[in-house]
Amino acid sequence: MSNSLFTLKKALSVFGAEDAPANLPPFSKGADNRTLKSWTTHDLPLVGEKVGFLPKLNSPIAAAVFVTKGGVLKSSLTLNIARMAALHGIRTCVVGLDMQGDVSTSLGEALDEESSLEEALVQVNAVKGLAQLYTGEATLDDVLKPTDLPTLFYIPETPELVALDQSLINRNRREYWLKEHVISHLKREFDLVLLDCSPNWNRLITNALVACDVLISPLECKINNFRNLTTFRALIKEFSVEMQASFKHLFVPTRLSPARKLSQEIREWYQTNLPNCSATAVRESIQGEESIALRLSIPEYAPNSSAADELRTLLKEVWATFKAAQPSRSTSTRISSQISGADECHSVSAI
Ligand SMILES: Nc1ncnc2c1ncn2[C@@H]1O[C@H](COP(=O)(O)OP(=O)(O)O)[C@@H](O)[C@H]1O
Ligand SMILES: [Mg+2]
Repeated sequence: MSNSLFTLKKALSVFGAEDAPANLPPFSKGADNRTLKSWTTHDLPLVGEKVGFLPKLNSPIAAAVFVTKGGVLKSSLTLNIARMAALHGIRTCVVGLDMQGDVSTSLGEALDEESSLEEALVQVNAVKGLAQLYTGEATLDDVLKPTDLPTLFYIPETPELVALDQSLINRNRREYWLKEHVISHLKREFDLVLLDCSPNWNRLITNALVACDVLISPLECKINNFRNLTTFRALIKEFSVEMQASFKHLFVPTRLSPARKLSQEIREWYQTNLPNCSATAVRESIQGEESIALRLSIPEYAPNSSAADELRTLLKEVWATFKAAQPSRSTSTRISSQISGADECHSVSAI
């Protein structure tokens, strides 16, 4: 976990802010209780609340990050959204649904490399997640883990998610377990719940799609993604009709190589042909890769880079989708794609 210091200049650059308002929080205190000339990572959300660009959400949002392809930046995007939301003082929880363990790696405490195998196994075996919640071996409080940001928590994925997935087969209302037993509770404590999904469409993923208000699908700007996209859209359409799901769907182009013609053309194709594709893409970048390795968002790691600028712009688009998914004051009537005929489901407000 990071333990960085942020001067006023650096703190402003993380949020892409130029001017400091008058009412900023006092600088953090050091170990000797002397005031530092900067804020610690822990105190940065207090600054983000004042100078940030992401508005608070009026009601809690659950967003699943899912597409049926690996390595397309699902977990990286989840981490970037989660950390930047939390840095704005937005209480955020990431739920790990991929047995690969990306959430635990990027948000959890690193194992002490000096520990013995026996000590390491004790530490690893003590980790509890959704599978233990399902069997009653753990409560929601037991499985919620803190991070270096006071506004960011996570539920780690564990290998037993495979068993949980199997157990769901024989359950009544098996598609609703996550929504009814996890997400609805988390929504009372958090403003934003992010579900980091695996690329394999299993029962846990069906649960995530039923539970989410927004679905974010990263699409690589690469040719071999095309075929996968066609199948994925058809599956989502079928699912939405069958389950009467009403999430907002946002596609996000990723791994864009701006200097490559083909990559640019693919990105343009997405934006022209997908009605709900973000205008901003996540570029293939060394800052993107390095920030993930250091468990940071791109704007924290390289605040003045083009990659950070684009990430901030993308987040504004993601927030517009979150806003659109929130219930409006007027009567909200949800219709499924069966009626709208669209390949994505939308909630429609009756005026
Ligand atoms: N902007 C980026 N440009 C290039 N590589 C990146 C970027 N962001 C992340 N990566 C690298 O890509 C790897 C795979 O991304 P990941 O988010 O784990 O994919 P997924 O969750 O879809 O399988 C990450 O581990 C990281 O090393
Ligand atoms: Mg992943």
